[in-house]
Amino acid sequence: MRFLASLWESILAFAAVRFLWKLKGIRHQAIQSFQATEADGVWHLFRGLDKETDPKLKASLFSHLIEEQSHADLFAKTYKEETGRAFQYKNVERFDIYSHLEPSWKNLVYVHVGEIEAVSRFGKIINNLTPSPLRTSLESILKDEEGHVDLTMDGVLELGIEERQFKAELNRIQRKRFKEAWMRTGGRGVDNFSNLLLSTLYFFLVGPFLFLFARKKIDSKTVVYDNNTIKEVKL
Ligand SMILES: [Fe+2]
Ligand SMILES: [Fe+2]
Repeated sequence: MRFLASLWESILAFAAVRFLWKLKGIRHQAIQSFQATEADGVWHLFRGLDKETDPKLKASLFSHLIEEQSHADLFAKTYKEETGRAFQYKNVERFDIYSHLEPSWKNLVYVHVGEIEAVSRFGKIINNLTPSPLRTSLESILKDEEGHVDLTMDGVLELGIEERQFKAELNRIQRKRFKEAWMRTGGRGVDNFSNLLLSTLYFFLVGPFLFLFARKKIDSKTVVYDNNTIKEVKL
């Protein structure tokens, strides 16, 4: 499943960078989304920090949070460099990933999964990018994200969580996120497929009948209309 997810992501990165991002404004919208994702990470880490009691982990979360904020700032700077315009923030809705009743280590595993995904995604995007401010920023951010993968895993294990528990939660989150991503893509695919099917149906089946009906009307010597609803005009 992981191999398929990685292959699918490589195809998406290739298509996005080489084709979609060539369309006006799309590449810049992508930079806005990257900035929003990093800022979202800061928010979630801040929520986790609030919940955490272990001082060492609290300090580690704080330095992690500062680095994520620097990524958000770097993407905003990159946007300005690539567009020559002031950065425009995207509005995003935020929800807590876990309820406050859940142990804080689960939150950290979730962040760990996000870091693995960021490393994979940014790496694949870089492979398709030509030299540019965006490529330079992504290369610098990627190095931090690789460090975050280890940092978050060490954080969980230092809390005394067994590797078995860690892996079980990690697999659960990865399955859930893969399913959600697939449903989003699959859902759009199903919509597009139904639209295509309906258009085809109209074009090939309903279309000729409408044409024949119209033709019959034109050829007809007399045309019958129901005038009952037309008001009589008194002159
Ligand atoms: Fe980041
Ligand atoms: Fe990160």
